[in-house]
Amino acid sequence: MKLIFASKNSGKTRELSRALEGTEFSVESLIGQKIEAAPETGSSFLENALIKCKSVAEITGMPTVADDSGLVVPALNGRPGIYSARYSGSGATDEENIQKLTREMMPISDRRAYFFCCIVFMVSPDDPFPIFAQGLWKGEILNTPAGSSGFGYDPIFYLPDYGKTAAELPLELKTSISHRALAIKDFLSIYLKHEENLC
Ligand code: IMP
Repeated sequence: MKLIFASKNSGKTRELSRALEGTEFSVESLIGQKIEAAPETGSSFLENALIKCKSVAEITGMPTVADDSGLVVPALNGRPGIYSARYSGSGATDEENIQKLTREMMPISDRRAYFFCCIVFMVSPDDPFPIFAQGLWKGEILNTPAGSSGFGYDPIFYLPDYGKTAAELPLELKTSISHRALAIKDFLSIYLKHEENLC
């Protein structure tokens, strides 16, 4: 099944495509297309993923998947959270967002953080059974970025079990253990159950 991915984020697109390799799904990206997902006006990851998914399914009429994700830092009361992409302002670069976060984290000793990913899948814009799936990935925030792969906050997201940041992991490894990987696994298992029930 061809899936439209309701995002222009190349990092997310690469990871979703890789994670769905070998399944019945192939991913078509919005990168380079005139189609834009509706703005994220929700107050939760789930709401924003649903808004993006439905708006793109309405425009394309195709099965659509959306990902709303972000970094949650308990010591910052959950920030940047749903505002991760625009933490230092609308149109912010990953570097600007990292700078703002590392500045705020400088005096804080509780370095715990997690990435959260919510996936929504709809066969059509009026799909009465959208699939919601989610994944969470725990780590710690570094003051100094390390690594050059991945995207977003990966260079400051440290994984004690690997002794590396997410930006130092090979793509294959990140796409099998990350919040997005777990959300996609969750999605695939719910999708299979839906299919069994509907047959
Ligand atoms: P969204 O497009 O509103 O879902 O925002 C996602 C933002 O969260 C990205 O722009 C990144 O800043 C951050 N983010 C989400 N997933 C990841 C990841 O896997 N690595 C690093 N940053 C991520």
